[in-house]
Amino acid sequence: MKNYDSIGHVRGESIFVDDVTPPLGTLIGYVYYSPIAHGKILKINFAGAERSPGVAGLFSFKDIPGENQIGGIVQDENLFAEDSVHFCGHPVALVVADTYQHAHEASKKIKAVYEKLHVILDPREAASKNLLIIPPRKFELGNVDQAWDKCDYVIEGKAETGGQEHMYLETQGSLAMPLEGGGVKIISSTQGPTAVQRTAARILGLPMHQVEVDVQRLGGAFGGKEDQATAWACMAALAAYKLKTPVKLVLNRQDDIRITGKRHPYSSDYKIGLSKEGRILAYEAVFYQNAGAAADLSPAILDRTLFHCTNSYFIPNVRATAYSCKTNLVPFTAFRGFGGPQGIFVIESAIYKAAQRMGVDPSEIQRINLLNEGDEFPFGQKTFNCNAKRCFDEAEKKFSFGSERRGVEEFNSENRLLKKGIAVMPVCFGISFTTTLLNQASALVHIYTDGSVNISTAAVEMGQGVNAKLKRIAAITLSISESRIKIESTNTSRVSNTSATAASKGTDLNGFAVIDACNILVERLQKVAAGELGEADYTKISFRNEKVFDEGKPTAIGFPDLVNKAYLKRISLTAQAHHATPDLYFDTKANKGKPFAYHVYGSAIVQVSLDCLRGVYEVDSVKVVHDFGESFHEVIDLGQAEGGIVQGIGWITSEELIWNSEGRLLTDALSTYKIPDIHAVPKEIKIHFLENSPNDFGPLRSKAVGEPTLMYGIGVYFALVNAMRAFRPDLEPDISSPLTPEKILLSLYKL
Ligand code: MTE
Ligand code: HPA
Ligand code: MOS
Repeated sequence: MKNYDSIGHVRGESIFVDDVTPPLGTLIGYVYYSPIAHGKILKINFAGAERSPGVAGLFSFKDIPGENQIGGIVQDENLFAEDSVHFCGHPVALVVADTYQHAHEASKKIKAVYEKLHVILDPREAASKNLLIIPPRKFELGNVDQAWDKCDYVIEGKAETGGQEHMYLETQGSLAMPLEGGGVKIISSTQGPTAVQRTAARILGLPMHQVEVDVQRLGGAFGGKEDQATAWACMAALAAYKLKTPVKLVLNRQDDIRITGKRHPYSSDYKIGLSKEGRILAYEAVFYQNAGAAADLSPAILDRTLFHCTNSYFIPNVRATAYSCKTNLVPFTAFRGFGGPQGIFVIESAIYKAAQRMGVDPSEIQRINLLNEGDEFPFGQKTFNCNAKRCFDEAEKKFSFGSERRGVEEFNSENRLLKKGIAVMPVCFGISFTTTLLNQASALVHIYTDGSVNISTAAVEMGQGVNAKLKRIAAITLSISESRIKIESTNTSRVSNTSATAASKGTDLNGFAVIDACNILVERLQKVAAGELGEADYTKISFRNEKVFDEGKPTAIGFPDLVNKAYLKRISLTAQAHHATPDLYFDTKANKGKPFAYHVYGSAIVQVSLDCLRGVYEVDSVKVVHDFGESFHEVIDLGQAEGGIVQGIGWITSEELIWNSEGRLLTDALSTYKIPDIHAVPKEIKIHFLENSPNDFGPLRSKAVGEPTLMYGIGVYFALVNAMRAFRPDLEPDISSPLTPEKILLSLYKL
C-alpha cells in the first residue's frame, strides 16, 4: 500500500508550480525587500532597475489598483511597504524581467535611502511598551489566587521556545495569467486558495469571480502556506494584470527563509502549585508570543496556546494570559500545532521543575493529573471519550516503562561520560479550527458515463495524503474500486469559499462533504436500479464491490452499466455537498464554549543517549500509543505520525533561528540552520494504534492525524534534561528550547 502520489514524486513527474509548462512569453518576478529591520524610506529610486537589461516592469505600492492590504485577521499588513519598513525582508517592490537572472540583477540597482529606527526583537520589550497586535487574552478556571495557600509546593520559572522554519521542499511560488475580460488565473502553492482569491481581488480591485485560483499539490507546507502564500500570488497577479502577460514568481531558498514567516518564538512565565501527593492544584502562565511585524495568523495561534496550556491534565484552578507582541521580525505564522506546542511545552516544563523539587520522577506527577471523563478545560469544554489515561497506561505497560527506567539508571551508574535519559510525553490536541466559522468544506462529485469518477473538494494536497484518504472515503461510500476515482486539483471555480486546508481538519471536513455528495448519487442510482429491476422500494437496493444487490441478493447489473442507464434516463450524475462541523460555539468575551469537535490523545515514551563530553546526543527510541480513532488508512496515518515526531524533534533540539542585534537572520541557509536528517531520526519509532476508539465526529469513525504527533518531540527535551542531570545532579538547567549540543555543553560545564 502506497500513497498514490509517491511514484510521481520519486520519478520527478509530479507537477509543482515551477514545473507547470509556462505559457509562451511568461515573465519572471523577483522581490526587492528591505535590508534593515525598522526604518523610514527617505528616498527610493527605481530608474536604474527599470533600465536594466530584460526588465519589463517594476511594481511598488503606487501601482496597486485596489487596496494595498493583505491582512486577514487584522488589517495591518501592506503587500508592498509604503513609507516605512518593519522587518528585514519586508517587500518593497517587484521587478519583472524576461529571465530570473535579469530580474535579480535589476533588483540590485534599486537605490533606497533609509532612516534607521529602534529595532525591537524581544517580545517582553514589546509588551513593556504596549506594542501588542491585539489586547491580551486570558483564560481562567476556578480561582488561582485562593489556591496557592492550599499548595504544599509552589514553583515558579521561565520557559523559552524558539521559532521554526518550515523548510517545505517546494518554496513559495505562483504563476499568474491574464484572462479575457480583465481577470486573472493564479496557479499557487497555497493551503488557502480562497484566501489567495479574496486577497488578489482586493489588491486588483476586482470582484472575486474575476480571480480563479488553482492548486494541484504543494511540495510541503506545514502551515507556512496557510496565510503566507498569498503575498507572492498577489504580486504575480498584479504584474500579470498590469503587463497583460503571464508572470511567475518563485522564491529562491534563501529568500524564502529570510522573508517568510515561521513558527512563533515564545517566552513564558509559569507558576505551579501542588499538593504533597503531587496533585496540581493551581497553574498560572503568562505567554509572550513574538508575533513579528504584523498580525498574520498570530491572534488565532495565541488562542490555541491558551487552549492547550494544560495539555493532557485536569487542573482545577488556572489563569493563563497571553500577549501577542509586535517586534521587528518577519510576521510569524502557522506551523504544525499552531501555538499548541508552545503552550504544552510550558506546562511540561512546570511539571519537570516541580518533580525536581519534590524529588520524584515527572511521570508520577503526569500520571495522577491526567484528564478523566467529564473534566473541564479552562475554556469550559468537558472531555468525552477521554483516552488520556488509556494511552498513558498502555504506553507504560506495552513499552515497559518501569524496567526501561531502571535500565537507564543502571546504565548511568556504569557509565561516566555517556548518559541515558527517559521521559513520558502525553498529548491532548483539540480538533477543529478554533475560529469556528472556518469549520466548513464542500465537495463536487461527477460520475462520467464510463463509470469513472471525478472529485473536487476544498482540500489541498501537501503531502499529508488527504487525496488518498478522500479517494478511499469515496470508494467506500460508492462501493467501487479506488482505481475509478480521480481527485482533481483544488480550484476556486469548482469549489467556492474554501477554508485553508489546516487545523488537521482537511480529511474530516472534506471527507464528510464527499460522503454526503456521494450519498446523494447513491440514492439516485438506487432509484434507477430499482426501476430496472422492478423493485418497488428503492431502499432495498444496495451496492457492493461495483455490483447491484436487491434485498441483499446479487443482480446482473454492475456499476458502469447502472451509471450508463442513469445517463440514458437523463438523471444527473453530478452532486455537490457542503459540510459544517455541528455544535461548535465559542464566546470570545467569556472565553468559554465548545471550540473542538473532539480531542486526539496519545502518550509517548522517549529515550535518549547523551555524550557528555561532546554534548551530542541520539534519540534511541520514541514509542507511542496514539489515538487515531478507527484508522481507515494506516500507512498514511503512520507516515503522518512519524513525520510529526521527527519535525517535533527538530524544533526541540537542533533548529535554531539566530538573529543579530539589528534583526537580520543569520541562519538563513541549510548550512547554518540544522533541520533533522537521518541521524536525528530516532533509532526506533514504534507507533501503536489505540484499539477500540471509534470517533463519531470523524469520517468512517477516524480521527485527524496531521498535527498532534509533533508534540511527542517535546518528550526528547525532557529525556535530554534527564540525562544531563544524571551527569550532573546539582544541575538546575534553564528551560530553553531548542536544546542544541552547544547549549547542553554550556550547561553541563557551567561553573
Ligand atoms: N504532512 C506533509 N507531508 N506535508 C505538510 O505540509 N502539513 C501539516 C500536516 N501534515 C503537512 C503534513 C499540517 S500543519 C496540517 S494542519 C495538516 O497536515 C493539514 O492536512 P490535513 O488537515 O489534511 O491533515
Ligand atoms: N488551526 C489552523 N489554522 C487556523 C486555526 C486553527 O485552529 N484557526 C484559524 N486558522
Ligand atoms: Mo496546519 S499549522 O494548521 O497548516
